[in-house]
Amino acid sequence: MAIRSPIINVMTSAALKAARGLKRDFGEVEQLQVSVKGPGDFVSSADLRAEKTLKTELSKARPGYGMLFEEGGASEGSDPHHRWIVDPLDGTTNFLHGIPHFAISIGLERDGEIVAGVIYEPTRDEMFWAEKGAGAFLNDRRLRVSARRQLGDALIGTGIPFRDRGDHPRYLATLGRVMGTTSGVRRLGVASLDLAYVAAGRLDGFWEFGLQPWDVAAGLLLVREAGGFVADLAGGQTMLTSGDILAANNHLHLPLAAMLKEALR
Ligand code: IPD
Ligand code: CA
Ligand code: CA
Repeated sequence: MAIRSPIINVMTSAALKAARGLKRDFGEVEQLQVSVKGPGDFVSSADLRAEKTLKTELSKARPGYGMLFEEGGASEGSDPHHRWIVDPLDGTTNFLHGIPHFAISIGLERDGEIVAGVIYEPTRDEMFWAEKGAGAFLNDRRLRVSARRQLGDALIGTGIPFRDRGDHPRYLATLGRVMGTTSGVRRLGVASLDLAYVAAGRLDGFWEFGLQPWDVAAGLLLVREAGGFVADLAGGQTMLTSGDILAANNHLHLPLAAMLKEALR
């Protein structure tokens, strides 16, 4: 049985509270698909409502902590050691299109290191959580990364840059290599959940460029605590600042890293 610490309880209950609103709003979005105006503005306010709930709940429980929220940006707290890093709605494009795959992601940083992470997926009621040194869990089940050793058997998640975001040819070079070597590539549209899925062994690896700290803070701890490996594309630990990330089980991380490096040469 997984024992949730007080801080994990704070994070999971904040996520559950914000998810109630998101679920209600998602029902509305499904109706708005056929309207001429579309659900765009409505989704932006759903996002802001979720952020407000999370801010209120987290600051009620830990008043001095600093914050980095996707919508509201950074704010310093009286406690210089702790900071919440939060994406109130990861997977906005899925949400906007009525695709039931989105999440709330909450990471807790202590002195520059992520020490607790919660990723909640409301549609399936899946609460992914991890605490440094205590393991990674899905609801009450302990998580382990997959045991696959062969790239040819591996299913790999990714994020495809869109519109003017990112360097498209650079990304396509990596995609070309991974497509030809693995048993498939998935673009599920929610970076935090992609990482949670690596932790759960559903995906064997995941890479993306140009992510934001709130996309990866909670997920990188989940992967580590599930026995996997996370790094930037140079093998360093700058994921929160560079936004480049490769996560995988320990057998596949090295060959994947070598393949991406080769593709980027
Ligand atoms: C996006 C998702 C997506 C990733 C994008 C992110 P948002 O976050 O995580 O999977 O590919 O780079 O921006 O905008 O839905 O919070
Ligand atoms: Ca995001
Ligand atoms: Ca978001």
